[in-house]
Order: sequence, then structure tokens, then C-alpha cells
Amino acid sequence: MHNRLALLVSLFFLSCLNSEPISAQESSRDFTPGKIWKDNNGMHINAHGGGIVESKGTYYWFGEHKIEGEIGNTAQVGVHCYSSKDLYNWKDEGIALSVSDDLKSDIAKGCILERPKVVYNKKTKKFVMWFHLELLGKGYQAARAGVATADKATGPYTFIKSYRPNAGKLPFYAAATPESEKVNCNKPENKSDGFFCRDFLGGQMARDMTVFVDDDGKAYHIFSSEENFTLHLAELTSDYLGHTGKFIRIYIGQQTEAPALFKKDGIYYMIGSGCTGWAPNPARWFKAKSIFGPWEFMGNPCVGPGSDKTFGGQSTYVLAAPGKKNAFIFMADKWEPKNAIDGRYLWLPIQFENDKLKIEWSDKWNLSLFNHLSKR
Ligand code: DGJ
Repeated sequence: MHNRLALLVSLFFLSCLNSEPISAQESSRDFTPGKIWKDNNGMHINAHGGGIVESKGTYYWFGEHKIEGEIGNTAQVGVHCYSSKDLYNWKDEGIALSVSDDLKSDIAKGCILERPKVVYNKKTKKFVMWFHLELLGKGYQAARAGVATADKATGPYTFIKSYRPNAGKLPFYAAATPESEKVNCNKPENKSDGFFCRDFLGGQMARDMTVFVDDDGKAYHIFSSEENFTLHLAELTSDYLGHTGKFIRIYIGQQTEAPALFKKDGIYYMIGSGCTGWAPNPARWFKAKSIFGPWEFMGNPCVGPGSDKTFGGQSTYVLAAPGKKNAFIFMADKWEPKNAIDGRYLWLPIQFENDKLKIEWSDKWNLSLFNHLSKR
């Protein structure tokens, strides 16, 4: 009997040694980038390529629900939602947008539905979710933007439509822009404009994306377009359900993915990545005095070991941290393409040095890091 007890006790301690380190959610007061982050049910949070919207003091995290294996990179379930008051402890709020069993639906089960972002429209009082959509069985060729709405943050969201934005529209240019810098579809030899001109009538490709709401309530959809060669930043209609046709092209021909945009002291900042599938590459950042540019390329914001590969991750969102002015959290995904559900979350504090961004790796950190900043 004693021997059995001793065996059980040693097995217990062994299992403790072998188990994953304590998650951010169990310790409830720290972020532990790259570890398992458990929700209120003890399950690894399943919200990849995600974004966060705050509503009445609660944060809602939306992301791709992935399943096991490579197939898990396709949308077998939908968009998962979690809620939190403190950003450490997350409650599972279930599936906010479900894929459809109707194979004819744009969001049929097995389609590719990536990088969902939810914003709140104060005028219509609706929560609006945009996402990158690839139609079932068509690989990454559809390159559409999809939109869904809900009355409550947690949903359920109703799918509205999907399409390629800005069909038949030319980009917006500041008054002084020389003609030579404008897209010219009458000059097919101009290579960097080739994909833009090809898609001019049918609408521009829209893959990796985010949505940003400015202080004046205007919303913008920023997405990898033109076969991922060029970013587009496009104004949304006042109900946030469509594109107005006003847009700019950013970092033309340079293959930027994974855009995440935020604003600090009247300056717009954007962090993105290069384009290497699921494999990590160096992050890149941009800044602009006006949302319609010019956007200046500023290099890699990451510093220290692992900075050449964004510490193994890829940007997805930048979150304004609670309570403090100018406290921002860089959110990235560490993809696990062979077993999609095991993807991890890398959240790191953004530091500013004379308006230059700096992101350093940290195994463990918490919001007290922002204590020196003034209150919002
Ligand atoms: C990188 C993108 O950022 C992801 O969202 C996903 O589309 C993968 N590429 C697919 O390879």
C-alpha cells in the first residue's frame, strides 16, 4: 500500500516536471509569450491571427479557431471569442461567427477565414467583423474581404458579404504627387502596377488584414493586395460595412503582410511582416503623419536575439493597454502549421525612443511595466 502511495506521489511530481510551464492565465498576472495560455476552462486559447475590441471595460479577443493537424489552418469551426477584464484571464465566449454547412456559402466549412478583426460602430451600434476570406477549394486565389455584424460583442455574428474591394477605383493621391508616381494602367511595362491593373475592374485582392478606427470615428481596412506585393489602406463607409473607394497603396512591390496599425500622439504607426508563408521573417514598421500617407518605411522594430525572425512570430494586432496613455502591446502569432491548434501567442510591450519603435523579447512580463506612463 505504502509503495503504491509512494509511486503515485512520484508520478504526480514527475507529471508536474513534464507539464507545460504555468500559463499566463493560471498565474493571472503575467504574460508568458510562447507558452500555453489557458482560458477559464483550462484550454489553450484558440484565437489565432486575432484582434481585440474593448467595450464597456471588457476586452474581447477574436481569432481563428484552429483544429489539430494541417487541416486546422482551414476554417472548420469559425471565429472564436474570449473576454477579459485584465488581459491576463480569458473567459471562453464560444464561437462568434460559425462557418456554414451549406457548401454554397461564401463561408462554407473548410474555407480559409483568417485574421478576423472586430470594431464597434457608435452610429449603428453594431459590432462589425472583417476578415480575410478564401472560398472553399480555391486555395488562396479568391483573396476577398468578408464582413459580418452582431448586436453584442460576443455575437453571434451574421455573415453579410464578401468581395474584392475598390473595383474600378484608382488610388487617392496627395495634391502634389507627380504623374510619374501614380499608377498607370496604360503602361503595362510598369511591372509593379501589373497586378493592380489586372484587378482594376474586378476589385483588388484582399488578404492579410486589419481594421483601424480613428479618433473621428472613421474606419480603415488595411490589407495585403496585388498578390501580396503591395499594402492597401482603404476607407470604410460610415456604417463600416463597405469601402468608399478612397484608398492608397503603401510600400509598393515590397510584399508586406500581417499589418497592425495604431496611433500615438497624432502619429500613425504600422507594424507588419514580410511574406514567407507560415515561417517567421523580420518585422517591419512604418509611420505617417496622415492616415493617407506618405507612409515612411522605418525598418525592423525588433531588437536583440531572435529579432531577425520577429522572435518566431508574425504580427497580428497592436492593443492599447488599459488605463495608460501610450502603452501599447504588440500581438503576434507563432504559427504551428503542421498542428495548427498548437499555435502560440507572443505579446510584447512596445517601447518608444524618440518616436522610434522598439520591441524586445521577454519570457514573462506584465502591465506594471507601463506604470511610469501617465493615465489615459
Ligand atoms: C501568412 C499570413 O500572414 C497568414 O495569415 C496565412 O495567410 C499564411 N501566410 C498562409 O501561408
